Amino acid sequence: MAGYNACFLTLLYLTSTTFHLLATSDDLHTYIIHVEIPGAGAGDGAALSSTLADDDLPTWYQNFLPKTPLSSADSTQSPPSILYSYRHVFKGFAARLSPGQAKAMETVPGFISAAPEKKLPLHSTHSLNFLGLNINTAVWNDSNYGRGIIIGLLDSGITPGHPSFNDDGIPPPPPRWRGACEFAAPQLCNNKLIGARSYAGGGTPADEIGHGTHTASTAAGSFVRGANVFGNGNGTAAGVAPMAHIASYKVCDVLCSESDILAGMDAAIGDGVDVISLSLGGPARNFYSESVAVGAFSAIEKGIFVSASAGNSGPALGTVENGAPWILTVGAGNIDRKIRATAVLGNNETFFGESTFQPANFPATQHPLFFAGSNSTNNNASFCLPGALRAVPGLRGKIVICLIGGGVGRIAKGREVKNAGGAGMILINRQPQGYTTYSDSHVLRATHLTYADGQKLLSYLNSTSEPTAAITYQGTIIGDNRAPELAQFSGRGPSQASPGILKPDIIGPGHNILAAWHISVENNTNTTSNFNIISGTSMSCPHLSGIAALLKSIHPKWSPAAIKSAIMTTATQVNLAGAPIEDETRRPANLFGLGAGHVNILRATNPGLVYDLRSEDYIPYLCGLGYTDQQVGIVVNRPIRCAEIASVSEEELNYPSFSIALGSVAQTYNRTVTNVGEANSTYTVRVTGLPRMDVAVEPTSLRFVAANERITYRVSFRRGVNATSNAVSQGFITWSSSTLKYVVRSPVVVLLR
Ligand SMILES: *[C@@H]1O[C@H](CO)[C@@H](O)[C@H](O)[C@H]1NC(C)=O
Ligand SMILES: *[C@@H]1O[C@H](CO)[C@@H](O)[C@H](O)[C@H]1NC(C)=O
Ligand SMILES: *[C@@H]1O[C@H](CO)[C@@H](O)[C@H](O)[C@H]1NC(C)=O
Ligand SMILES: *[C@@H]1O[C@H](CO)[C@@H](O)[C@H](O)[C@H]1NC(C)=O
Ligand SMILES: *[C@@H]1O[C@H](CO)[C@@H](O)[C@H](O)[C@H]1NC(C)=O
Ligand SMILES: *[C@@H]1O[C@H](CO)[C@@H](O)[C@H](O)[C@H]1NC(C)=O
Ligand SMILES: *[C@@H]1O[C@H](CO)[C@@H](O)[C@H](O)[C@H]1NC(C)=O
Ligand SMILES: *[C@@H]1O[C@H](CO)[C@@H](O)[C@H](O)[C@H]1NC(C)=O
Ligand SMILES: *[C@@H]1O[C@H](CO)[C@@H](O)[C@H](O)[C@H]1NC(C)=O
Ligand SMILES: *[C@@H]1O[C@H](CO)[C@@H](O)[C@H](O)[C@H]1NC(C)=O
Ligand SMILES: *[C@@H]1O[C@H](CO)[C@@H](O)[C@H](O)[C@H]1NC(C)=O
Repeated sequence: MAGYNACFLTLLYLTSTTFHLLATSDDLHTYIIHVEIPGAGAGDGAALSSTLADDDLPTWYQNFLPKTPLSSADSTQSPPSILYSYRHVFKGFAARLSPGQAKAMETVPGFISAAPEKKLPLHSTHSLNFLGLNINTAVWNDSNYGRGIIIGLLDSGITPGHPSFNDDGIPPPPPRWRGACEFAAPQLCNNKLIGARSYAGGGTPADEIGHGTHTASTAAGSFVRGANVFGNGNGTAAGVAPMAHIASYKVCDVLCSESDILAGMDAAIGDGVDVISLSLGGPARNFYSESVAVGAFSAIEKGIFVSASAGNSGPALGTVENGAPWILTVGAGNIDRKIRATAVLGNNETFFGESTFQPANFPATQHPLFFAGSNSTNNNASFCLPGALRAVPGLRGKIVICLIGGGVGRIAKGREVKNAGGAGMILINRQPQGYTTYSDSHVLRATHLTYADGQKLLSYLNSTSEPTAAITYQGTIIGDNRAPELAQFSGRGPSQASPGILKPDIIGPGHNILAAWHISVENNTNTTSNFNIISGTSMSCPHLSGIAALLKSIHPKWSPAAIKSAIMTTATQVNLAGAPIEDETRRPANLFGLGAGHVNILRATNPGLVYDLRSEDYIPYLCGLGYTDQQVGIVVNRPIRCAEIASVSEEELNYPSFSIALGSVAQTYNRTVTNVGEANSTYTVRVTGLPRMDVAVEPTSLRFVAANERITYRVSFRRGVNATSNAVSQGFITWSSSTLKYVVRSPVVVLLR
């Protein structure tokens, strides 16, 4: 949307908070080209496959390429060639072209569209206990720990041979598996890591940055005893679906090109994965120009569940990414574990912070405190930017205060302090980060404090001529009953591409998550660790991918939409203390942050009712978004004529949540629920919250007499007596079975216009 310049390669990023955005530009661009067989009529989706075998597609795609070299001045250059021929994700290809060459293709029969690709950034032990997954729990028993399910991860590759990818007790992949192990030594794959392909970063599927190893082990890592980072978080590490198979598709180094992502999705669909996990993304765009959305549609058509990260651009509204309704969009919260590092000031004031790096030999003695900004002004030294502290006098041997932000990562700030001779670092949040602090593998003694505590620290600094502080370590502390808290970075709704669909859908553990790492992290204590604690919606997404794998194993016939509905309608809105889940400001988080709430895996296996959708149900919705026939056709990969289809508004899609903009005219929507609980059951409705609104549901009671029976109900939304404009009213529509065994809750957000 805003700020997108199609002439630049804008980058999709890995959605962990450790990685940063880069940008490049070039005269030539990689274009993504959609095509169709000329003459294939609307609604005749089978025409293409019946006239052209998949194996013939690459040859046919060649017809679209210009035959002349890129530059007539340089005859040594060869004509453009195809980078990727897509088969499953849609009919089309990627090629490196000049804008003129892309334009020239428009006249070739069968051409639909060509757009320069974007590059997207990449956005444990205890998190499983936090989710309620323990050995012998019913969920793991019933799903056989995910045995036989294949999770495909599109990420930065994977580290074969890591203990998390041991295949003890894991059977060979199912016969439908058609993937490949593209390591130079194919024996690096096993029954856990059944496939590894590479489309980025020089050909090897190996993970050079750690992100892909972390996400894969979170979704489906095997059991590893004694996993810890510098002794912290020690316990048995496992993925959410520890017996599931992993297929790795390397589509990113630090950034992820759309042509590579599509190549990875194309392969994953063809290889036969059951779940696709995407911890990467970029700013929201219309779905037809968002490769992840287009690729995911082909996946769900084949029954493959797609889960993707909501992005790390929160807490501002409208920052959610990967918001297509056929994707599960996952935000991030924390867990009840802290790796505590405490700052004790000269006046004995004490502030609890976090750090994963906790050297055993650090004396808890007071050191002079140093802050390069006497003020919280934005100068480079107060942010401890690289190079900014080296020339600052009087810093050596002191504990240095660094502000979060300034475009530099937290660990890099510590490197600067260490290089400048500082004895330690206290990282303090600025107002936007609030109470979200990180447990990082710092390179020196450090702790990270909240904004509120940081302000007290600065007041103390002002109050005395000889400020001092010590950092003490308490290691791993479990049982913070404020958890889960919505993380500051977690992308927030409303969805820019489709405000009528509430996004994100769900939050899961994504803040301070321990999982496998590609190398030993920082070695300045001579301690090594092949696990690491990192944060991001990149970390919450694979938790939900693993949960989807378990649900698919328990309910093999459920559609991706049914699995998503089960996850959403059973979510919880309260923290461990039973109070509403809070955000980074310690006020109750709103539904634009939480979506349906925090995932509750134990209840998601047996939701009672689901809001189901077939892939063709999205077509009237896409027409209703006002897309042209061609734009809808790009998403659904076949010719569409919206005029011949009864299009629906976004809010009418049979989605498990509601997001409505309401003026003076009342609005009424139908929803259809499918009975997946006990055959004979009666549900009654309750509307909660939704102040300043009149909400009527009809009927108020649903009586089912058969399994898989579908019943439609209607909801009317009307402004209440005291409604004011530009206010948001939120609440829930909840169907409860008479036995209270099933509670099916839909979040509702109404923007009063
Ligand atoms: C799970 O299976 C194990 C081994 O068969 C059994 O001991 C345990 O009771 C089961 N747990 C539940 C909750 O059914
Ligand atoms: C981690 O826990 C295991 C088993 O409880 C123990 O043997 C091991 O020494 C612990 N490791 C650390 C670093 O605390
Ligand atoms: C801080 O606490 C220590 C030990 O309890 C005490 O000796 C010291 O006087 C206190 N300092 C201040 C400034 O209160
Ligand atoms: C403190 O901040 C104010 C406003 O941001 C600025 O005008 C002032 O110069 C700063 N003082 C110092 C000592 O940096
Ligand atoms: C502050 O840092 C930025 C980015 O690292 C750099 O461009 C700028 O020159 C620095 N400013 C000063 C005054 O050093
Ligand atoms: C510290 O003092 C400076 C000026 O001396 C002032 O601008 C700043 O607001 C004070 N900071 C705090 C946190 O009290
Ligand atoms: C680890 O130690 C080696 C050898 O001392 C050094 O070259 C390397 O830079 C260190 N790694 C990190 C991440 O500091
Ligand atoms: C790491 O080990 C080397 C060799 O055993 C030793 O010389 C060095 O002092 C150790 N460093 C630390 C920080 O313990
Ligand atoms: C909603 O359902 C009612 C009755 O079940 C039906 O008359 C109406 O046409 C439906 N509305 C839409 C928009 O599908
Ligand atoms: C549901 O109840 C009806 C009568 O109320 C009965 O005829 C039917 O057999 C029951 N179905 C099941 C699956 O128990
Ligand atoms: C509307 O506002 C008035 C005045 O604040 C209050 O007395 C009344 O109860 C409100 N009505 C409703 C339905 O909330």
